[in-house]
Amino acid sequence: MHIVMVSAECAPIAKAGGLGDFVQGLAHELVRRGETVQVVLPLYDILRFESIRDLRVIDRGLRVPFHDEWLECWVQAGEVDGIDCVFLDPRSERGFFRRGRIYGETDDPERFAFFSRAILELVLRLDRRPDILHCHDWQTGLIPVLLHEMHPALVRAGTRVCYTLHNLGYQGVVGDSILRQVGLDPGRLLVPDRLLDPREPGAANLMKGGIVFADFVNTVSPRYAWEIRNTDQGMGLQGVLAAKGDKFGGVLNGIDEGVWNPETDAFIPARYGRASLPRKAVNRRALRSRVGLREREAPILAMVSRLDRQKGVDLMHHGIRYALAQDCQAVLQGTALDPAIEAQFRSLQQQTRSNPDCRIELVYDEALAHFIYAGSDMILIPSTYEPCGLTQMIAMKYGVVPIVRRVGGLADTVFDANYSHEPFEIRNGYLFDDPTAAGVESALRRAIWLWRHFPAYFRQLRINGMRADHSWSRPGQRYLEIYAYLLNRQPPRPAPGQL
Ligand code: ADP
Ligand code: GLC
Repeated sequence: MHIVMVSAECAPIAKAGGLGDFVQGLAHELVRRGETVQVVLPLYDILRFESIRDLRVIDRGLRVPFHDEWLECWVQAGEVDGIDCVFLDPRSERGFFRRGRIYGETDDPERFAFFSRAILELVLRLDRRPDILHCHDWQTGLIPVLLHEMHPALVRAGTRVCYTLHNLGYQGVVGDSILRQVGLDPGRLLVPDRLLDPREPGAANLMKGGIVFADFVNTVSPRYAWEIRNTDQGMGLQGVLAAKGDKFGGVLNGIDEGVWNPETDAFIPARYGRASLPRKAVNRRALRSRVGLREREAPILAMVSRLDRQKGVDLMHHGIRYALAQDCQAVLQGTALDPAIEAQFRSLQQQTRSNPDCRIELVYDEALAHFIYAGSDMILIPSTYEPCGLTQMIAMKYGVVPIVRRVGGLADTVFDANYSHEPFEIRNGYLFDDPTAAGVESALRRAIWLWRHFPAYFRQLRINGMRADHSWSRPGQRYLEIYAYLLNRQPPRPAPGQL
């Protein structure tokens, strides 16, 4: 199969959050299984160029119709850790991808509309027509729309689109001018069963367009798949998701064990596994010394997160205060796009600056994240919603016990130590329901208590988490089944319930 994966992110070269990890992990898995994969990204100025091998211009002839002109766009190619990557480099003065960051620009809709339009032109020029275009999130929602509206020949030739929803909190709700800029007809498309936003009168919803026109839509955990169809987590898209029938499902993400594995992790001072768990103590000491926590007999509660309302920022604050009041240590690593949230955490950083048991690190730093997973004991993830969540899976792999709100993928991967229908050997953490201070405390209190009074049990929770298989193997198989279903090939169509 020839799979073209189109995304705004791919770790380690362009990552803002879990989408980057996802594309890297799935691409690796598909390549491992012998599929032909190309990942297409914008050529951002902030790409980690040192991780790209043999980067070269392969095509200077791409012209992309945009608004009322044809923009020149170079195509570059390179290899990132065994994955073929293609980069689109618009030569226009607007510098769409030369902004020093991936997202957060006022013209993000235009930047990614241009990218989507350019993808279609690129596909027409590839040596081999893709079987599958796998698109992700609102930034690429226009691709299936453009494919059907402008390139029906590709559809007739058999190219199919799988569209994965990573976050319904960002749908790309834009004015109709964006459609005109890429050459689409708002008159045809701005109707309720196509791109018309269900909530904002007259606006176009790019994610909705992707859902309507893609051949298969999925999200990143079974529980979130249910939530977005059946509750207000659908954020207005419940109806259009329901209309997809069995062309919609939830596939739980994996984590790339080539990147996230304490037995091989090159970032951490002491490598360890289930059989050598005591070596985690070396990493705990190293973490304390790196961030400046004092050395003492206390559990370290960690948080590694985008600081966004989705992640339950107020509850993170509360968790830190509660952990400190319970004589624990706390370390938070995160960055905020929203200046108000940034200010909130700067102020917490000020207030706790002289506390030797607390560190607030407002930086994006991959190496530090590895240190924190390897050195901490518990991780708090109090999300308001969570499509999948990778940090709880990464944390578990590193023997860190997750304390999470029972939503989305968190509910699919964390099984409560005390209250669960699951057998003891797979219980691995703590859950709470209410998005309140009392909710966080109810779970955190139990975790701290176990750490203090029954260390052997606490250790067992760590082991249970480390033992779980969160590799890309199973999800990789699922995506291949979806692709094969779309192409009418073997392996046969999976039963709807299986997705
Ligand atoms: P989301 O995609 O919603 O941000 P996920 O849990 O799926 O949440 O993935 C988050 C990813 O981003 C993880 O790999 C996590 O380690 C990483 N991450 C989040 N914040 C930072 C940061 N400040 N520095 C380094 N890595 C971070
Ligand atoms: C999004 C979601 C997160 C998910 C990630 C990768 O950023 O917020 O829950 O794990 O995408 O699918």
